[in-house]
Amino acid sequence: MIVYASRTGNVRYIASKLKAKYIEVSEDLMMNKSYLLITYTDGLGDIPAKVVRFLEQNAQFCKGVVVSGNSNFGHTVFGGAGDKIAAMYHIPLVRKLDLRGNKADYEAIQTFYETRVTG
Ligand SMILES: Cc1cc2nc3c(=O)[nH]c(=O)nc-3n(C[C@H](O)[C@H](O)[C@H](O)COP(=O)(O)O)c2cc1C
Repeated sequence: MIVYASRTGNVRYIASKLKAKYIEVSEDLMMNKSYLLITYTDGLGDIPAKVVRFLEQNAQFCKGVVVSGNSNFGHTVFGGAGDKIAAMYHIPLVRKLDLRGNKADYEAIQTFYETRVTG
């Protein structure tokens, strides 16, 4: 399973490129099996508030994080949400994508998903 957070559609697009079921983060979503998290970056390198709240309840089954950002924000905060989540929860940062990323990104994410999430 993939759990994603998307505000303007880039992350939803990324999720749609993967061969996996995906579901959007919501207030009351509770996970009871392994999943991969894909999120955008907010503020200045920040984790979106709804993702913070989701992880407070559901970090246990999160096997890795993929982040989308905009590299125009500069390298110190580009994709910062992914760096923070990986550090806070001791999980791998699978991939950092610029906006929607590219085919090589989707292939790398797919491989991780099949070996470390459902594998
Ligand atoms: C208010 C705002 C703040 C943002 N801050 C950052 C940031 O600090 N670092 C970054 O890499 N991208 C930042 N972004 C870019 C988004 O993370 C990026 O466009 C992402 O692809 C959006 O995903 P979505 O279309 O699924 O919402 C910001 C975007 C907005 C609108």
